[in-house]
Amino acid sequence: MEIKKVCVLGAGLMGNGIAQVCAQAGMEVTLRDIEQHFVDGGMNTIKKNLSRDVEKGKMTQEQMNALLGRIKPTLDLKEAAAGADAVVEVVIEVMDVKKKVYAELEEIVPKHCLFFTNTSGLSITEMASITKRPDRFIGTHFFNPVPVMRLLEIIRGHQTSDETLEIAKAWGKKIGKEVIVVKEAPAFVVNRILCSMINEAFFALDEGLASAEDIDKGMMLGCNHPIGPLALSDLVGNDTLLRVMEGLHRELGDKYRPAQYLRKLVRAGNLGRKSGKGVYDYTKK
Ligand code: CAA
Repeated sequence: MEIKKVCVLGAGLMGNGIAQVCAQAGMEVTLRDIEQHFVDGGMNTIKKNLSRDVEKGKMTQEQMNALLGRIKPTLDLKEAAAGADAVVEVVIEVMDVKKKVYAELEEIVPKHCLFFTNTSGLSITEMASITKRPDRFIGTHFFNPVPVMRLLEIIRGHQTSDETLEIAKAWGKKIGKEVIVVKEAPAFVVNRILCSMINEAFFALDEGLASAEDIDKGMMLGCNHPIGPLALSDLVGNDTLLRVMEGLHRELGDKYRPAQYLRKLVRAGNLGRKSGKGVYDYTKK
């Protein structure tokens, strides 16, 4: 089966990027969120990204208009999911919320529709278990910013079929990503390594080993990372990082204990770029 119509649930940081790359690959896309300002925010980000590409001469204005014409923003779940070949679910990383969405979806989507979850680390098998299609359920983990990052980490659940895996791999390739397939485990592979490293940077900051700027500078200049770990946490969202670490800690033990400083930032509402403040202050720029 070839995926031609995609429903993306969640218009935030990751969702709008996924909608963009799907439309870029010629697919019909619906982009759904629960409040109008989330949907508008997602569409505005896509327009901003594409306008930048037009200015750079990477695409024409006509191509941009055609691409935008393939993305239909909506608040209505039924309208978004009806007729979809695949639903890419990018809702908040809370198992019960995701399960509720899948229970609703089950009644709307066609029988052949595949469920792709963009979780950063929750169990694919557990989500799939509440649906009537665990064989057609798979993890498709993207990286931020989606239009730029080349990787798609694909995670099989316990009952994911070979056919679903092959379709997901072909879809990943079509939207311009390199695919790796990993086994289901807390935070999978990339986030297990990446988030642990970022968490360690928060410990170093809290212990006063160096300033945030110098920790980031150290990892950029000493290890050739494109961005320092603390700035990266602000980019992906400190709340997202904390949730990944809490999941790792819960499942794999004390080695993955979230840094207290990270907890404090999240409790203060300093979630990173999206809230204007995180480790760094973005309101002054
Ligand atoms: N959306 C689309 N395009 C973007 C973008 C965005 N949000 N941000 C930057 N770009 C594009 C720019 O337009 C530019 O494009 P061109 O090459 O065509 O000019 C290119 O990316 C480079 O951007 P900049 O020159 O402005 O900035 P930069 O060189 O500092 O790169 C970056 C920015 C790509 C974000 C870079 O800092 C980087 O690669 N950082 C690491 C990102 C990373 O590790 N992501 C994974 C996070 S983990 C995750 O997402 C998983 C999870 O579950 C937590």
